[in-house]
Amino acid sequence: MGFRTLRFVVRIRRSERYPVEIREGLLERVGGELRNGLAVSRAAVLTDSRVAALHARPLLRSLAGSGLDARVIAIPPGERSKSLPSLARVLARMHRLGVDRRTTLLNLGGGVVCDLGGFAASAYMRGLPYVNVPTTLVAQLDASLGGKVAVNTADAKNLLGAFHQPRAVLIDPSLLRTLSSRDLRCGFGEGIKAAILGSAPLFERLERDREALLGRDGEALAWTIAEAARVKMRLVEADPYEAELRRALNLGHTIAHALETDRHYGGIKHGEAVAFGVATATEVARRRRMIDSGDADRILALLEAYRLPIRLARLDVGSLLGRLRSIRMVRGGRLLFVVPTGIGRVEILEDLPDAELGSALARRRGKE
Ligand SMILES: NC(=O)c1ccc[n+]([C@@H]2O[C@H](COP(=O)([O-])OP(=O)(O)OC[C@H]3O[C@@H](n4cnc5c(N)ncnc54)[C@H](O)[C@@H]3O)[C@@H](O)[C@H]2O)c1
Ligand SMILES: [Zn+2]
Repeated sequence: MGFRTLRFVVRIRRSERYPVEIREGLLERVGGELRNGLAVSRAAVLTDSRVAALHARPLLRSLAGSGLDARVIAIPPGERSKSLPSLARVLARMHRLGVDRRTTLLNLGGGVVCDLGGFAASAYMRGLPYVNVPTTLVAQLDASLGGKVAVNTADAKNLLGAFHQPRAVLIDPSLLRTLSSRDLRCGFGEGIKAAILGSAPLFERLERDREALLGRDGEALAWTIAEAARVKMRLVEADPYEAELRRALNLGHTIAHALETDRHYGGIKHGEAVAFGVATATEVARRRRMIDSGDADRILALLEAYRLPIRLARLDVGSLLGRLRSIRMVRGGRLLFVVPTGIGRVEILEDLPDAELGSALARRRGKE
């Protein structure tokens, strides 16, 4: 169906580069990619139990075909597995399975598996190589890329983490066919974020091709994943350790993280929380007249077109502001806040008064 293989290389430093490959059917070729492309001789697979039931078999067959006899570690699905107790269990399993520094960890799953597995790989014996095989749209166009890995605590999302880049990212969009439609829409939350911060053509395609994308058309999805990934990798390459430029990727995330923590990592999904955060940031920009009203309306309309929440009925503004205050505290009194200033453009505010944030949030309370 006109599907092409897309491949590009991410350059973090002169010494550190890794390939990102997007191709339908790639799952069945992972063994060869590891063995021939990366000279991997030992592997272990981290996944969640839902993904394991759906997609582990072809992966293990491909690994075995390349002489890689990998053991599988499966965590329960969902955001609550991105935690310190779950990390401890994974590390203990790795130890019992005899994982050593010659072993490459293969993360087969969504953002939870990529973040948790990447962090386990950064910590285990002071660092193992890992490869991401993302299986959700959130992970294919965002979480599997860029090397930010973490777990949540009850107090704060991604509080414990590291920068640890993967050796390769192998993306098979056909895996998205088994994804729930809610999780698919979550991916467009991150996709719309990427479009706003760096690609008007992506934004336009998301508007134009909504039906094909929600219908999981392979070509449309692959193009979208590649374009969102390019937006992200441009920023990551320029600023791998998030000193400055990379911060733009946090568009929608200041509020998303507060909201997810507030709801104890249940009820609202990350992509939905990001969509709500983008809607609120758009509200802030509109009130400051930093964005043309027509562009602000386009952003809200696109989020709505993918049935993402731009309003929330159950919104505890006071509690959210409290969480944002504690983020401000650990950041030396400043709450960096990314706002859209057009389609393909953002600006970073050095701080945002509680009153302004509170009234933008209050405007977003309503019928979902
Ligand atoms: N490190 C980063 O740069 C980065 C970027 C974006 C998001 N994230 C993180 O990613 C996490 C969210 O990731 P997510 O939305 O992928 O959630 P997830 O990993 O929990 O996956 C969502 C659900 O989809 C299921 N699933 C996964 N692949 C499937 C498939 N192919 N078919 C059927 N079901 C499948 C999972 O079992 C799970 O129930 C958050 O913790 C977020 O903070 C990290
Ligand atoms: Zn995100």
